[in-house]
Formats: sequence, C-alpha cells, structure tokens
Amino acid sequence: MQQRTLGRTGRDVSVIGLGTWQLGADWGEVSEADARAVLDASLASGVTFFDTADVYGDGRSESIIGAWRREHPDAGITVATKMGRRVEQLPEHYTLANFRAWTDRSRRNLGVDTLDLVQLHCPPTAVYADDAVFDALDLLVAEGAIANYGVSVETTAEALAAIARPRVASVQIILNAFRLKPLDAVLPAAQDAGVGIIARVPLASGLLSGRYTRETSFAANDHRSYNRHGEAFDQGETFSGVDFEAGVEAAREFAALAADAGLAPATAALAWVAQLPGVSTVIPGARNVAQATSNAAAGSVPPLGDAFTASVRALYDRRFRAAIHPRW
Ligand SMILES: NC(=O)c1ccc[n+]([C@@H]2O[C@H](COP(=O)([O-])OP(=O)(O)OC[C@H]3O[C@@H](n4cnc5c(N)ncnc54)[C@H](OP(=O)(O)O)[C@@H]3O)[C@@H](O)[C@H]2O)c1
Repeated sequence: MQQRTLGRTGRDVSVIGLGTWQLGADWGEVSEADARAVLDASLASGVTFFDTADVYGDGRSESIIGAWRREHPDAGITVATKMGRRVEQLPEHYTLANFRAWTDRSRRNLGVDTLDLVQLHCPPTAVYADDAVFDALDLLVAEGAIANYGVSVETTAEALAAIARPRVASVQIILNAFRLKPLDAVLPAAQDAGVGIIARVPLASGLLSGRYTRETSFAANDHRSYNRHGEAFDQGETFSGVDFEAGVEAAREFAALAADAGLAPATAALAWVAQLPGVSTVIPGARNVAQATSNAAAGSVPPLGDAFTASVRALYDRRFRAAIHPRW
C-alpha cells in the first residue's frame, strides 16, 4: 500500500482509505461486530486513513472508530471527521461557539484530546467567503482541540475557494470516472498550494463496481432509493449525480476497460483515481470485509497508463460531460 502526505496536515496516510458512512448504519443494518470486522480488515490490508462524520449514525460511526482505534495505538491511524450537518445548513450556524460544541462532541466520541482533521461538511457556499469562519478554526488549532482542518465540498468552485485559504489542510471532493471536472483546475491548484485531496464516492455509490443492472433495487432507507433526484441532500452524492440507468450502461463499458487491464472494475476505478497527480487518498465505502480487502488492494496496482486515462475521458465526454460538468 502506497503512503502519501495528506496536504498541509503533514501526516502520511494510505492512498486507499476507508469511508465509514455505511458503518454508522444510516442506510442498511451494520452491526458493531461487522463494522469492527471491516475496520480490522482494512487495517490489516494497509489502510491507515479513515473518514467519518459526526452525523454518521448520529455519532455511532465516530464512537465505533474511536473505541477500535484505542486498541491500535501504534498503527499510525489518521481519522478525519466532519462537522456542521447536525443543524440546518445556514451560514449563521458556522460560529466559534458551535465549532467548540461540535468538536467537543467529536473528541468525546473518538476518545481523543485533539482531532487529527475536522472537515466542514459541505457548508453553504457563503461560508467560504467568511474570514471569521476560518479565524475560528485557526483558534481551535491554536487551542489544541483540532490538529488540522479541511473542507468537504460539493463543487469545484468551492474546492478552489477552500484551497485559496492559507491554512486549509485538505479538500474532500467527489472524484471518479463519472466525475472528471476536478481534473481541470482543482487537482493542479491543490498540488500548487500543497493542499491534500481526499477523493470521495470513488465508485459512484457502487455503480463503478459493475454489479448493478437496471433492475437492481435498494432498500427504502438507502440513499440510493430516496435521494436519486436530490430529495434529501445534494443529488451529486448519490450515484455521483448520474442517471442510474445511464450509469449502469456506462459501468458496463468501464468494466470492459478494466478487464483489458486485467482488473476487477472496482479495483480499476479506485486505482485510476488514486494514481491521478494531486490525489492524496481515496475513500471507498465498504459494507463488508470482502469489499474492504479488495478495495485496499487497489493501492498497489501498477500505473494504469495514459491510454487507460484517455479511454476514461472519452467515456465521460461521450456520456456525462454535458450533464455533469456544468453542475459540479
Ligand atoms: N458530504 C460528504 O462529505 C460525503 C458524502 C458522501 C460520502 N462521503 C464519504 O465518502 C465515502 C465513500 O462514499 P460512498 O460510500 O457513498 O460511495 P462509494 O465509495 O462510491 O460506494 C460505496 C458502495 O460501493 C459498493 N462497493 C464498495 N466496494 C466494493 C467492491 N470491492 N466491489 C463491489 N462493490 C463495492 C458498495 O455497494 P453495496 O452497498 O451495493 O454493496 C458500497 O456501499 C463515505 O463512506 C463517506 O466517508 C462524504
């Protein structure tokens, strides 16, 4: 497993991390034992970067990770959490007092004095222009409540605004074979500024695994049922914003590219993102040990090469650019 420095945090992390939204059991049942098994399998496969949020299972994901991490004090684990979505998404909620309350709760859940990295969790666009927000975050760093802060963003414009802030350590953004706009300006800007890039939803919510058909259905409490059209939160978070049936067809085409490279589709999808210059770590979600283990293996795939990238770009340009590029 390759290691990379995560931007201005200065911490080395595995190039394949683990997203733990699923482990909060917000969608689908995940027992604590199953969650721990996924964490154990990831660590055993070389994963040292774990992404969570205070809202995943309303703190359950953080609590499980915190207890588990205390059992592995010397494993070099970095945990990134997020804050800001336990209240309505209004700019006036991004205050020092709220940041203190939210980070105190995450510190308790994770069982640490200092959070490794806390990310604003897709804040309203106006927040990016508010100096007081970033002054407050600087104060939390100075006080030792957090070691670093970053921003999880929805759009490339927001990513560029975050990168321009001098002490933003990392930007988390949707980046996968069906979402290529971050390649245009965000990855070069992050590299120039030394800001880490955390690539989320790298499998387009599972589409890029090539397992789904037009007939595949998801549980009623799974966002892939209830947020297909952005009913509950940004549409881009579900299937990366692509139409499901168009995504199934495109995934079949991607699977053929992966097969030519001798790889399973999910492995190729993750390795391709991980190999993009400027990406620090990629955070697939995993529901079980088999997924976690095979995803981690993408961190040691040899370079896929320029021809593979050209094919991915051609697929995107033909199928998705017109709908996706102007929006995110
Ligand atoms: N606003 C934000 O900041 C935000 C928003 C979304 C996500 N995130 C973070 O990003 C992480 C990743 O996003 P995500 O989980 O939504 O999307 P994802 O990583 O693109 O997709 C995860 C899904 O892909 C399938 N999968 C995973 N590994 C597989 C494998 N090896 N083979 C076949 N299928 C596989 C599973 O689907 P099945 O369930 O069908 O098995 C899994 O639920 C989250 O866990 C979270 O940490 C952050």
